[in-house]
Order: sequence, then C-alpha cells, then structure tokens
Amino acid sequence: MSSNRSSMSPEFYTMNGGDGPYSYSNNSHAQRILIEVAKPIIDEAIAHELDLRNFSLSSNPFSIVDLGCSTGPNTFIAVKNILDCIKQKHQSLGLTSQISEFLIYFNDHTSNDFNTLFASLPPDRQYFAAAAPGSFHGRLFPESSVHFFHSSNAIHWLSKAPEELVDRKSLAWNKGRVHYTNAAEEVCDAYAAQFRKDMENFLDARGKEIVVGGLMVLTVSAIPNGMCLSHQNPIGLMYDLLGASLMDLVKKGVINEEQVESFNIPIYVVNPENLREAVERNGSFRMVKMEMIESILKINYGDEITNVNWWTRKLRSGNEDIITKHFGSGIMDQLCQQFTVNALETSNDFNALFASLPPNRQYFAAAAPGSFRRRLFPESSVHFFHSSNAIHWLSKQVYDAYAAQFGKDMKNFLEARAKEIVVGGMMVLIMNGIPFGMSHSQNPAGLMYDLQGKTLQLPIV
Ligand SMILES: C[S@@+](CC[C@H](N)C(=O)[O-])C[C@H]1O[C@@H](n2cnc3c(N)ncnc32)[C@H](O)[C@@H]1O
Repeated sequence: MSSNRSSMSPEFYTMNGGDGPYSYSNNSHAQRILIEVAKPIIDEAIAHELDLRNFSLSSNPFSIVDLGCSTGPNTFIAVKNILDCIKQKHQSLGLTSQISEFLIYFNDHTSNDFNTLFASLPPDRQYFAAAAPGSFHGRLFPESSVHFFHSSNAIHWLSKAPEELVDRKSLAWNKGRVHYTNAAEEVCDAYAAQFRKDMENFLDARGKEIVVGGLMVLTVSAIPNGMCLSHQNPIGLMYDLLGASLMDLVKKGVINEEQVESFNIPIYVVNPENLREAVERNGSFRMVKMEMIESILKINYGDEITNVNWWTRKLRSGNEDIITKHFGSGIMDQLCQQFTVNALETSNDFNALFASLPPNRQYFAAAAPGSFRRRLFPESSVHFFHSSNAIHWLSKQVYDAYAAQFGKDMKNFLEARAKEIVVGGMMVLIMNGIPFGMSHSQNPAGLMYDLQGKTLQLPIV
C-alpha cells in the first residue's frame, strides 16, 4: 500500500499509558460508567439492527473494532458486553453452529500504550485480539472486512485544532483561551467546521470497511442542541480552567503568552444535530437511532466528581501528552497545582446553595461560577456588588508575599468589577481588617492561623 501521508501530518496525542497514579487506566472511571450506561442501548441495537443471518461466517471470523480504545480496562468491558450480546443473538436465532471465531481489533494512535493494553487482556477472553494502530480519521482496514464498529468517548478528539485559532488576523483568533468554552462565536464555528471535516473522513473510511448489514455504535460526549459549551459542561469547565491556569503561569513568568496563544485543545463536544447532519451528508450509513443519555452530571459517579483532586488527575491522565508536547514536561506539576487552586475556587457547592434559597424570596436567582479575581459578567451589567468576608482570600499563600499578593489580587478584582458595573452603580465590601499599626498576631484570625501552623509543625510520633 502506498503512503500518501504528508510530512505535515498533524501530531497525535494519547492518554497516559502504564498503570501509575496519572495513567488513563487508573483515571477513567467516568468513561467506564458511560460504557455501562450505554450498554442497554447497544444491546437493543444489536438485537434489532445487526443482520446476523446475512453474514457468511463459516470461513471468516466475526470482526469487532473498538475505535480509540486507549489502554484499558474500559475497552475490555465494552468489548465483552458487545460479544455477549452478539452470542446471545446467535443462540436465539438458532445460528449457534454458524458461530465462527471472534477477532477483536483494538484501535488507537500508533503512540498509544499497546503494551499495557496487551499485558492486561482478560485471561478468560473468548476472542482473538489484535491491535489496529492509526488514526480513525483515515482507513484502517481492508474493504468490507469489519462486522461491528464500536467507539466510546473518543470521536470528540479532532484530527487537529482549527488553524484559524492561532491566526491573529482571524475573527476566530482564540487569544487567552485554549478551547472554545465561553469563546467567541467564530471560535465555536471553527471547531464545528473541523468536526464536520473530520467526521466526513471518519464516515468515508468506516463506510468502506464495514460489511453489508454491519453495525456501528458510537457513544460520544454531547450537549443538547442550541446550547453553547459552558461551565455547565464538565469538559467545558475543565478546559476553561486549564486555559486560566496556563495564563496564571504566564503571569508568573513560567511560560510566555505566545505559547498559550498557539495552543488549543482539539476536542469538540457535539450536539445531536451535528451528528445527524454529518451522517446524512456523508451518506455511507443510515442512522437508525440516536439517544441522548442522561446528563453527565446526573449519572451517579459517586463522590469523585465533586473532588477537585480527581479532576486534576483526570486532566493530567488525558492531556499530559498534548500539554507537554507543546510546553515541555517541566511545567506539568506546577500547572496541575495551579489547576487545583483554580478548580477549588470554582467548586463552590451551588447545589446546597440553591436547595436553601428562601422559598418566599422576591427575586430571581442565578449562579456565577468562577474566581472573582477575573471577569464574571458582561460589561456594564451589574448595578450593585456586595461581598462579605470573602475578598481576604489570597490566591497564593506565600507568607512574605502576602501584602504584595493582596495588592495584585485587589487590582484584578477592581479592574473586573469596574468593567461590569453600570454607570452610577455601587459596591459594598465587608472584610476583615486590622487598625493601622496593629500586628497580625493581635488579630483573632492571625492568632488562629498561627496556632494552626504551630500545631501542624508538631513532630508526628
Ligand atoms: C478518552 S479516551 C477513551 C478510551 C476508551 N474508549 C474509553 O472509553 O475508556 C479517547 C481515546 O481516543 C483516542 N483517539 C483520539 N483520536 C484518535 C484518532 N484519530 N484515532 C484513533 N484513536 C484516537 C485517544 O488516543 C484515546 O485513547
């Protein structure tokens, strides 16, 4: 086969391999739950749509492909679910004698950690396993050779970030951000256009590779039609916090602004309309069913999803490769620390707040998540700001720099509020203070933190 891949082909990024604390295999519980939640829908699709009678399987193995499999163990769970269901259907149709052997292809980028994947293959598996390395945006298999394609949580990865995002002359120039969460419309449009191109290539390739009567099931991260990617979506929130954390490292002189300007995450969270359009435009497949699984936040992930450290590990396990290829491996620890600080500032318990809203209140209520050191509202839109006992929290608790840090934080705070307040508006701040000339040790808060610090320094026996 001749290669037409140009030397300019985009760089590919994978999840963290191995089984360490920041590995994908140890930080992909949320993706595993999606596989379990999607199981009944996939079972139903196999029961109603997979045309087993049409296949002549006596000489060929039944081939199943998991596209974007990463390192496991999720892919093994997905494959087992599919296999069990197909076997059951074989049996119920009385085709048991026809059951040939099953061959599972695990697909991911060539740089995926296939060693970890193969080392953890289930010992009691009832299939042959093979790797199919390469991008699913291009051809991976011979024509008419695959019976079943599956992919979970992978096709939101684009082949590359749209080029306009780094073009200073373009309206889609994505200055100060690394994703399209809360970004200008032109930035969102550029992402959507890249998704359309990538899906066209993806569907073209799969359309050639699948046998007549075969089935493809895709589980994708999605948002409802007409909704923009915002902080309400965990992916949106995570990448917005990543952008803010990188800009914080710019302010600290760890990286420079040009490096952030030329960095964009190639991930697109589709809506059902995007997907339907892509399938209909391409024409290789007939869409038999599309179902929106319940909002990711309502699925029971347990307590983990509200744990900031869990989010930091998740960011790292899935994005360390793309971040370090761009910024170098030296920034990763510091970036994760900054991300944790920013995530903590954002992770107020709004659920509890809303649950306790006064039932007889005479106002409408909304939440504005994010650090008050940055912009939170549109220009000239707020009539009254109030803050009580909050703005003494510093973003960086280095003792000898407290005063300087407070000066910087107040500057950011006041600049943001000045843009947001209407002409003639008012701001009232209630905060902890000490009289001129008094030392911090005479202040109850100072005394408390001093005692706390001394206690923490006691030798542990
Ligand atoms: C979030 S992981 C999902 C892994 C697994 N399917 C699961 O549900 O746990 C996304 C995977 O898609 C892979 N991926 C992204 N773009 C790809 C492409 N163009 N071709 C093949 N694999 C790709 C990534 O390398 C990564 O392993």
